[in-house]
Amino acid sequence: MDKTLQRSIDDAAQQVAAAESVAALTGAGVSAESGIPTFRDCGGLWEDFRVQDVATPEAFQRNPRLVWKFYNARRTNLADVRPNPAHFALAEWATLVSDFHVITQNVDRLHHAAGSRHVIELHGDLWSVRCDRCCEVFDRTRESLAEMPECDRCGRLVRPNVVWFGEELATDVWAAASAAARRCECMLVVGTSAVVHPAAGLASMARDAGADVVEINLEETPARSIANLSLYGPAGVLLPQLVARVRAIRFGDAS
Ligand code: OAD
Repeated sequence: MDKTLQRSIDDAAQQVAAAESVAALTGAGVSAESGIPTFRDCGGLWEDFRVQDVATPEAFQRNPRLVWKFYNARRTNLADVRPNPAHFALAEWATLVSDFHVITQNVDRLHHAAGSRHVIELHGDLWSVRCDRCCEVFDRTRESLAEMPECDRCGRLVRPNVVWFGEELATDVWAAASAAARRCECMLVVGTSAVVHPAAGLASMARDAGADVVEINLEETPARSIANLSLYGPAGVLLPQLVARVRAIRFGDAS
């Protein structure tokens, strides 16, 4: 690894190692090295699909079959996907401090698969489905769904249990995320373009409450303007190194 980047990782570790309360705001970039396409990068999902065709309540009303085709394909792609070193590094960090929350915009459940326990899913998850009539959420993890899946209870067409554009985040989920952001002494902003609100606003919320903000991304994002430190490179490379340094500083070894 480039020496300047190594030094930046060491500096970041020195700055945040004492934090007992840490939150990681993650986006699609954290799962990119697992083989899941991001949204806005070259080759990203929003290059091939229009948001208004597949990710709004109006789209679902207009053409549920198309929306389900899009989500069923994403579920299928997820079936063989495994967490990568970035997910595992965040799960490991949680073992080093007393309060660690992952606040994710991702719907792939890979943080859970890597062993993270306190995961706040801002945008829902791809594996469950929801009935708008009886408000039930059904876990359909790894099941292959019908083209137009129906509610077990009332027979109505169910929808993916994700937040679409134009929809509010669930109140309890947002309350948990903003509490974690205000409470943390360090917020890692990892693999997100930091342009989708309200999620992106959590980084400023943390900063305003006095946290150190560390941006980790392949490239500069709007989070840079509020970050104390920015590390540029693949999350699956940077995060394991950062966690190893934090562990070494906290416990005096690098094991
Ligand atoms: P984006 O696709 O907007 O941004 C992905 C970010 O990850 C970019 O800033 C990339 O530079 C960065 N990136 C890519 N590979 C990386 C790697 N290996 N290591 C580190 N960084 C990497 O994805 P999000 O910010 O997650 O919402 O998008 C936010 C929301 O917009 C999503 O949750 C989704 C989308 O529309 C909904 O569907 C409601």
